[in-house]
Amino acid sequence: MNNKYKPLRGFKYNNFLETEIFNFIRNEFFKLAEIYNMKIISPPLLAPTKIFKCLGEASDVVNKELYAFTQKDGEEVCLIPEYTRIFLEQMAYFNIKNGAYVYMGPCFRYERPQFGRYRSFNQLGLEIIGKNNYMVDVEVFLFVKEFLKNIYVDNYILEINSIGTIQDRKHYENLLKEYFEPQLNYMSENSKNKFYRGAFLRMLDSKDEADKIIINKAPKITSFLCEESKNKFNKIKEILTNLNIQFKENPLLVRGLDYYNDLVFEYTHEILGNQALSGGGRYDGLFKNITNEEIPAIGFGMGVERIIHILEQNPKFINEVINNKIYINLLPIEETEYLKALEIKNIIISLNKKYMVEVLYDKNLSNRLKEANKNHVDYVIIFGENEINKQEVIIKNMKKNISNNILIKDLKNFFIVL
Ligand code: HAM
Repeated sequence: MNNKYKPLRGFKYNNFLETEIFNFIRNEFFKLAEIYNMKIISPPLLAPTKIFKCLGEASDVVNKELYAFTQKDGEEVCLIPEYTRIFLEQMAYFNIKNGAYVYMGPCFRYERPQFGRYRSFNQLGLEIIGKNNYMVDVEVFLFVKEFLKNIYVDNYILEINSIGTIQDRKHYENLLKEYFEPQLNYMSENSKNKFYRGAFLRMLDSKDEADKIIINKAPKITSFLCEESKNKFNKIKEILTNLNIQFKENPLLVRGLDYYNDLVFEYTHEILGNQALSGGGRYDGLFKNITNEEIPAIGFGMGVERIIHILEQNPKFINEVINNKIYINLLPIEETEYLKALEIKNIIISLNKKYMVEVLYDKNLSNRLKEANKNHVDYVIIFGENEINKQEVIIKNMKKNISNNILIKDLKNFFIVL
């Protein structure tokens, strides 16, 4: 009988490399956020379904992808599909109206799984509330740039667009409806569905080749922006250019969620193909849903599994971050040298975290050496009564198969110069 349990579709067990990269990303993200004086939040993962409805009844996230169910007390709840909405609930709950906040945690979307797209995935993100200023928008890009540099992600593309005010967007959506309606018969089923759901903006997102020909000739939002939105967008582009932050203006860029206005953006990477590495923008109207107050906001979310896919294929990252560790096994010959083993272990631990040190216990020394060899250990340190009496140990370089005796007091220097 085989009782092995396979994870659910779209869920996965991470291997040890993925987990190590995950922790690296998390450490770097929160380290940088702390330097920028951003506060960490970790909202609950289960929430009332109704709060996510405002992400757009017509959007896939709300329409088809929510992991929603009725809990025992009859309340409709769902696993969170993203953090922005629940973040605002938390801010409203604590009556906070400004500041910058970061998070990293799981999200759930009942999507069709494929490479880089999972039903359970992790997002890291930043949300800034209380400031409606193009300089804040630029700072978001600067933060992402520094973060991606720190985690060895390069060759990404930043695409930006402005979708104007809510009124600009309404007007544009009507124009799109008029434009697409007579051509619907030539469009994919997916696009037709979006049309009938009223998701006209999202029709611009289609990956279908025939759709793309029609979409390319569609009216562009940039021609219908009000003066204020146009000026803000121009200012952002000007500063990004001055700061040497490369971007591509994409007038067809729309986001999958309904709450955005003015600036929207996505980061893409060739390893991810059609899937975005990150997406975000301004959502100045969302807070009003909760407290009736106008509190401007901007933010981005980034898929952690997608970053991991990129880093797994980056030899510089693998060499400098993953494979830069030195594995050491301590092999006391007899149980009586156990305390000495702990003493030596502490000497090595105190040096630097790149040394991974483990004491192997077993009666048989040659078995332990075989085990160390099998585990690709770099150095073994062997010592029995004889060595300890002389205040020394035997160090064996397993890769070169060379052994040397060395005084315990010189161990520190031996490893420091490695
Ligand atoms: P989003 O574009 O829906 O935006 O998701 C942000 C990122 O999460 C995507 O760019 C992608 O990397 C990752 N992601 C989304 N779905 C999946 C999936 N099924 N599997 C793996 N990764 C995925 C938001 O969620 C907004 N809350 C972002 C935001 C924050 N806007 C303003 N503030």
